[in-house]
Amino acid sequence: MGRVKPFWDQNRIFLSQVLSNFGTVGAIAPSSPLLAKAIVQPLQDRPERPIAVLEVGAGTGVFTARILKSLIPGDRLDIYESNPRFCGYLSRLIQNQDLQARGVRCNLHNVDVRQLEQARPYDFIVCGLPFNSFDVQMVDEILETLMNHLTARGVFVYFEYSLSPGVRSRFLKAADRDRLRKVSLRIGRFARQHQFGCRQVWWNLPPAKARYCRKGSDGSGLPEMNRDKEPAAPLVKN
Ligand SMILES: C[S@@+](CC[C@H](N)C(=O)[O-])C[C@H]1O[C@@H](n2cnc3c(N)ncnc32)[C@H](O)[C@@H]1O
Repeated sequence: MGRVKPFWDQNRIFLSQVLSNFGTVGAIAPSSPLLAKAIVQPLQDRPERPIAVLEVGAGTGVFTARILKSLIPGDRLDIYESNPRFCGYLSRLIQNQDLQARGVRCNLHNVDVRQLEQARPYDFIVCGLPFNSFDVQMVDEILETLMNHLTARGVFVYFEYSLSPGVRSRFLKAADRDRLRKVSLRIGRFARQHQFGCRQVWWNLPPAKARYCRKGSDGSGLPEMNRDKEPAAPLVKN
């Protein structure tokens, strides 16, 4: 019974925000545990020293809970979530994690990620933002901000729903179709430049692809966060 209520609360809050803020939420349901597992997978292959992690667009914290479980004493997690209702939910989730006793720091910021102010770069960035709901200029600004805040050996992970642009555009007006086309081209260019692997997750609504990226432009090889080790499970190239 203990797990049923949080599951229901999470879906109820998510749905209420989908209905009132679809433009920024950009999804019809929270991500599935399997997508969360794929997103957080590079943390299994983490360095032994303390690391700094950034999560952007945490929603009801499906990825957050998994990130927090992977952290060890000395690690830090910064969360940027622009929606105040989600932030209220996240602050309760974080309080329940007993982080102080584990020596893990976690800071929640209820602001747009473009206001990210952090001198020290992050080893691992998890992005849950709905890029396909934004205009291309906003996508550019966010990608630039995030990549500027990634360490040279860091890993940046985001996901994309596996709906073809053709299917998506069928439901859009002409102006929105043009916006989506520009955003798809921008994200495609980013992936070609930075992606070193990806994983398809069918068990998600809708199915999604986790994309693993890093600085540099050869688009091949292992995550630089820990390039002296093989990843725990091979990442599929695409
Ligand atoms: C697709 S939902 C993902 C939620 C969660 N990560 C998941 O996978 O279930 C996108 C989230 O990004 C947040 N968001 C949208 N634009 C944002 C921005 N500019 N800065 C920070 N968060 C933003 C939304 O409020 C929402 O919680």
